[in-house]
Amino acid sequence: MIDAESLRGDFPALSVGPGRGPAPVYLDSACMSLVPRSVLEAVGEYYTDYPGCAGRSLHRFAEEVGHRYESAREAFARFLGAPSPDGVVFLRNATEAINLVARGLSWTRGDRVLVTDQEHNSNLVVWQRLAAERGIELVHLRLPPDGSFDAEAYERELARGIRLVSVFQTSNLDGRSLPAREVVERAHAHGAQVLLDGCQAAPHQRVDLGRMGADYYALSLHKMLGPSGTGLLASRPERLEPLAPLVVGGETVEWTSLTEHRLRPPPHRFEAGLQNYAGVLGAAAGLRYLERTVGLDEVEPHETRLNRRVTRALADEPRVHPMGPADPAARPSIYSFTLDGVDPNDAALFLDEGYRVMLRSGMHCVHSWYRERGLPGSIRASFYLYTTPEDVDTLVEGVRELLSRVPAARAGGPRAGARPETPTGTSARTGGSRGARAGRAPGRTAGS
Ligand code: ALA
Repeated sequence: MIDAESLRGDFPALSVGPGRGPAPVYLDSACMSLVPRSVLEAVGEYYTDYPGCAGRSLHRFAEEVGHRYESAREAFARFLGAPSPDGVVFLRNATEAINLVARGLSWTRGDRVLVTDQEHNSNLVVWQRLAAERGIELVHLRLPPDGSFDAEAYERELARGIRLVSVFQTSNLDGRSLPAREVVERAHAHGAQVLLDGCQAAPHQRVDLGRMGADYYALSLHKMLGPSGTGLLASRPERLEPLAPLVVGGETVEWTSLTEHRLRPPPHRFEAGLQNYAGVLGAAAGLRYLERTVGLDEVEPHETRLNRRVTRALADEPRVHPMGPADPAARPSIYSFTLDGVDPNDAALFLDEGYRVMLRSGMHCVHSWYRERGLPGSIRASFYLYTTPEDVDTLVEGVRELLSRVPAARAGGPRAGARPETPTGTSARTGGSRGARAGRAPGRTAGS
């Protein structure tokens, strides 16, 4: 069982002390996780001990970083149950991984791609562009609001002919998961390939790509203790083979003449130019922390306990509306909710100002879903291995205080958007929540 309190000392961003004020309550790990000290050390070690270009120069720095970079590839392949390290491509994030598949496959006009109606922009916009540019057809599978999966509706679409299913494994909006193995098996039975966005799944639960059978798996490593701007695409080398690289240049070719070139085999043909060695080695240190210091199998039970705690604590507040499945065990890492009468961005600013609670508000890059429902967004608390029961208690306290300041009589649904003063009165930082709305919230984008 995780003792999050004892892990917090490993995370410099959670430290307290002179000049830092009280401990922050970080509930935004679905956007980006915090990094343990060992990750920062691994990043620093690269620059101090072997700051070389992997795979190019022959000197000892280059040899060392090359060796460590490929070891990191092996570690992530093992972690994901990928058939071979050669199926792991290091990229900036899952967005780039999805773009690589989308832009890399060769499309024929009329090819159909299935997404759910709850996809993050990273798994939507590129398909919309391909629809406009190459005539693919985008099919939206509507998900039931209770978190269940409508297998019959899915089968109906597959039967009409789908080339690629591209869906989340776990939703960043409400924490629900799709039955990944069933999604893949049904798709394969109809001859469709599957790309899974594993961003909100792999940091929290064991993923076995061999067993699951997904053709492509996109992952952001900065959501699992890695440095920002690190991610990967995992697949089988033979599935990567037909993809056209997004970017070409140094490192991607075996040889060139003035008029021709021959690409290297995957994964190297997709890693053009000098790579983010420090980031990848930092991400590998994050993986070691996750597996050896904490234990991946402990993460989801820990998050479920936290989610039950907040769900139960706010269950008696009629103005609080949690999203997604009713059972917290079906959305362990995310508690997303709306408040009658309070704009989600105002709520986030109030909680940050008054309680040092950092969470995400707005549309969480799933504008399509909120717009279809006429909602201005939601407030999303997301948990990870360093989140403590006290953190969620502080959230509950803050929400109760907020509701007490916005009388129920004024409440008329989240659109009413009453603007609460912060507990400390007008804020110097934002000029109060009104100032915050004028000056900060839009800057964060009301629905980003
Ligand atoms: N997908 C990330 C989030 O949900 C950015 O916050």
